[in-house]
Amino acid sequence: MTTRIIATGAYAPVQVITNDDMANVVDTSDEWITQRTGIKERHISSGENTSALAVNTARQLLERAGRKAGDIDLIIVATVTADYSTPSVGCIVQKELGASNAVAFDVTAACSGFMFALSIADKYIKAGMYNNAIVIGAETLSKIVDWSDRSTCVLFGDGAGGAYVEKSETYGIIEEEIGSKGELYDILTGGYTDCANIFNGKEKEDSLWYVNMNGREVFKFATKSVVKSVERVLSGAGVAAEDIKYVIPHQANTRIVDIISNKLRIPHEKFYMNIDRYGNTSSASIPIALNELNEKGLIERGDKVLLTGFGGGMTWGTMLVSW
Ligand code: ACO
Repeated sequence: MTTRIIATGAYAPVQVITNDDMANVVDTSDEWITQRTGIKERHISSGENTSALAVNTARQLLERAGRKAGDIDLIIVATVTADYSTPSVGCIVQKELGASNAVAFDVTAACSGFMFALSIADKYIKAGMYNNAIVIGAETLSKIVDWSDRSTCVLFGDGAGGAYVEKSETYGIIEEEIGSKGELYDILTGGYTDCANIFNGKEKEDSLWYVNMNGREVFKFATKSVVKSVERVLSGAGVAAEDIKYVIPHQANTRIVDIISNKLRIPHEKFYMNIDRYGNTSSASIPIALNELNEKGLIERGDKVLLTGFGGGMTWGTMLVSW
């Protein structure tokens, strides 16, 4: 028995900000951003918060899966940009759908978040506790990006993507792993809130609220961790790299994906990329790309699809799926 993705969905804010628009905000250029990252434009919220993006995605998932809100057992939202510290985005999604039989919560693993959430849903389903789940990655990174820091603000975008998963006796998740390396936590941080209160006299500091990244260290971590993780998952499944139809990598940087593709000897054209239109949407990046691939009809029943990502924490996650 396994867990199968029966529908995908995605939603991004309508406002599109191009690299030329970014050049009006910070000292940068379309040429620099394109060459170093592969990004041409990104969607940026005009006010919709993370839950609004997640709810739109969830409605699409229900419709496409042909299921009713009351059918849903589990709602997991991966995010680092929740509307509130409490309630979870998952609970807001539950209310808006009227999914009164579900249990809902959020998980945080930055850009690996969707992989962590899918892994958790898979375990609940395999344990026989639930039959299905809605799993969503949703982010409004624009609210934690320092718009005066050119080394980070050009990289990120807002959006959401997700999957409706169900218990399956045939196709579905073949092999997966998630992992973390907490000793590297400070190479990529965001959303820090100071422990300031009236009894310790501390002033709240805003600077650590914003995304702060050691780009080179993240680059090194990403190329190493993803390659090793993919190798472990493929060997665990006994599946050869050439049998994979598509790899959907976390969309952080085309240069990272080029290196991963070379090291794994998986041809570049098998890596599905849409970073040029979305930038890095953290936990939403893999499900947005997966949904695009699915909508284009590029994957068929039984095709082997590999999802793999890395993110703050530092974390990683890889999943091999028989579609
Ligand atoms: N426009 C123009 N110049 C810039 C910009 C910009 N937006 N940003 C930085 N520069 C300048 C720097 O100031 C520096 O100038 P200097 O040489 O005069 O000092 C020069 O460009 C080179 O800067 P580097 O940081 O060395 O550039 P690098 O080639 O490493 O690219 C990048 C930076 C794109 C962030 C890269 O390190 C990277 O991709 N790292 C991986 C991290 C990543 O992808 N993070 C995404 C989010 S994390 C995640 O998804 C988990």
